[in-house]
Amino acid sequence: MGLLGSAVFLDSCKKPKTSNPPQGPTVNFTLDLSQSANASLNNAGGSVASHGVVVANANGTYVAVAQSCTHNGCNVGYNHSANNFVCPCHNGVFDLSGNVTSGPPPTALKNYTVTKNGSVLTIAG
Ligand code: FES
Repeated sequence: MGLLGSAVFLDSCKKPKTSNPPQGPTVNFTLDLSQSANASLNNAGGSVASHGVVVANANGTYVAVAQSCTHNGCNVGYNHSANNFVCPCHNGVFDLSGNVTSGPPPTALKNYTVTKNGSVLTIAG
């Protein structure tokens, strides 16, 4: 019985990281780009954190991922020079969709739909 239990445990460890679902809160909120608090989003490379989500202007395309790193929960930030999201605690790196590209995070960040209507962004997912 014990041996069978160990075999099942080892088998579960072999699953690829991508089998874990992305992690992040469920949200639906707006950011008005005409407000000073959100002004950085008018420029490529700008980003704003709100509702547990990082919203970034990735060279003219708005993207949003969960802010809390799936490793130990540090806040990830947008890195304009590499056009990705980076966790400062242990150098976890995520692509614009929230997928892990390097470092220790075991799971992708949840990503969100960003739609622009006039000067208002709606972030949902
Ligand atoms: S907490 Fe983000 S890489 Fe460790």
